[in-house]
Parts: sequence; C-alpha cells; structure tokens
Amino acid sequence: MGTVVDAANKEANGSSSGKKFAVVFVLGGPGSGKGTQCANIVQQYGYTHLSAGDLLRAELNSGSENGTMIQNMIKEGKIVPSEVTVKLLQKAMEESGNDKFLIDGFPRNEENRAAFEAVTGIEPQFVLFFDCPEEEMEKRLLGRNLGREDDNIETIRKRFKVFLESSLPVVQYYENKGKVRKIDAAKPVEEVFVAVKAVFAPINVEVKGLCC
Ligand code: C5P
Ligand code: MG
Repeated sequence: MGTVVDAANKEANGSSSGKKFAVVFVLGGPGSGKGTQCANIVQQYGYTHLSAGDLLRAELNSGSENGTMIQNMIKEGKIVPSEVTVKLLQKAMEESGNDKFLIDGFPRNEENRAAFEAVTGIEPQFVLFFDCPEEEMEKRLLGRNLGREDDNIETIRKRFKVFLESSLPVVQYYENKGKVRKIDAAKPVEEVFVAVKAVFAPINVEVKGLCC
C-alpha cells in the first residue's frame, strides 16, 4: 500500500501493468441472486466475474497461511480484513487478461471500499444492487444446498445482520454519488435479468453469438 506505483494507479483507474480497468460492483444480501445474474451478464456482455466470497473460499482451500482465519470469519458471517480480500481481487484482475469486471460481494463494508480505492485507484462505473426481502433470501439460501458451511440458519441470520449494519451503508455511500442501479431481485431469475439488461444495454456492446 502507498507505493509510487499505487499513486500512479490512482491517476489511471487501472492496474500495475498500466491497463485501464472498468469495474461494476455487484451488491445485495446473501441469497439475493448476485452470482446467478453475474453468470448471465458475463455471457451477454463479456465481463469477468470475480466473487469475493469465491476467492476467499479458494484461498482457504489452497492451504494458505490465512486459511484458518478466513474459515473462522466465513463460519461466523464476519468480514475478512480488506488487506486479504483486496489482494486476491487485484491478483485475479491482473491474471484475467480482461479489462472489465463484475466484482460480486464486494465492497462489503466501508473498510473494503476505502482499501480497494486506496490500493487500486479504481472507481466503479456503477453499483448494481439486488434488493430482496430477507424472507425470500432465507428461503433461497436454505434451499440451494451448495454444501456451504455458512448456509445454515444460525450463520444466515448473522450474515443478514452484517449486511444491514455494514454493507447497506456502502450502498448508501454510492447512492449519494448517484451510482446505484437498483434491481428488484425478489422476482424470478429471468425477470430479474430483463431488468439487469436494461442497465447494461445502453453502455455495453453485446458479445455476439454467445448468448440469448
Ligand atoms: O458473497 P458470499 O456470500 O460468497 O460471501 C461469503 C462470506 O465470505 C461472507 O459471509 C464473509 O464471511 C466472506 N466475505 C468477506 N468479504 C467479502 C466477501 C465475502 O469477508 N468482501
Ligand atoms: Mg455468491
């Protein structure tokens, strides 16, 4: 953090290789459909999908020195220190070969947001926010059976609390900057994607022949 390269990146909204990155943050409560919709957006608009939660799970499964800490945080629905998560995101961006990213489940709190901006200098194009009632998210999480250790009712309740207390203020921060595109995520997947496309279509060229 705080190197000359970092300072230069700040000017460039980009990577250490000098490449300019376009980033959309995808936020919403646990079970609001972020991952599902990101897969659709990737197909149609050619973004690379980076899920902060997936990157953290991969890191803990790789036997990293942070593995135990990450596992404990996930089990408790707590937010892993930004230093770890931002590094994983930065590495994934650099290695992807792409220059446009959907960053899903991040920034999860003010610390995440400030650290990402300080380290990468990247301002998001906009924030896609999946708005969904808790009862619906709870039903989806308990029904999805992905084998995740945190999809049990006790951890789900903790994740909801963290979302309300720590993540919604980040949505509000971007709302104040006019950057939030809010989607009604309680609807069926196909209907949600119609609303998502209305956000992306005006600014992105579809990737021909890949989808729909
Ligand atoms: O987004 P997802 O539901 O996959 O996140 C699972 C867990 O990963 C979160 O409950 C949290 O413990 C951790 N996480 C985090 N910081 C992020 C994203 C996820 O600590 N930015
Ligand atoms: Mg997810």
